[in-house]
Amino acid sequence: MEIIEQIRRHPLYQEYYDKLEKLEEKRTFCRHQMGHFLDVARIAYIHNLESEYGIRKEVIYAAALLHDIGKARQYTEGIAHEEASAEIAGRILWDVSREGDFSEEERQEILRAILGHRKKREGMSELEELLYTSDKQSRPCFMCPAERECNWNIQKKNLEVEI
Ligand SMILES: [Fe+2]
Repeated sequence: MEIIEQIRRHPLYQEYYDKLEKLEEKRTFCRHQMGHFLDVARIAYIHNLESEYGIRKEVIYAAALLHDIGKARQYTEGIAHEEASAEIAGRILWDVSREGDFSEEERQEILRAILGHRKKREGMSELEELLYTSDKQSRPCFMCPAERECNWNIQKKNLEVEI
């Protein structure tokens, strides 16, 4: 089975994904479902190609699929979701990497990108920057009925189609 599908099918992934889905069932603002994770992965991969970073596709998809997986713990325990996601991701990546699909360096790079994906700052790794940018670009704020109430600052919002 492909490594990304192994991540998706991992019992911890399934557990936290289901929890999040239930907790966000009535959420009017952006939800964090598979569509979002795959949008982030695909946008990040396009930027990766355009910028010629040369990051492996599997590394980008793993980071994207895992970057918000701990969001349920932010809702229920008040833990910042990048920290909860990195903690859960670390356990999943360890399990799925036993046959060497991700090197130790790649695992650390993915966890770093998850931890850093919420804020733009100096010295971001290429994967961190890809994840940050793609996460924001994945949201079509111009179509969102909750845009006016959303607390994202105006610079962050996508108010028109950009290519
Ligand atoms: Fe996200």
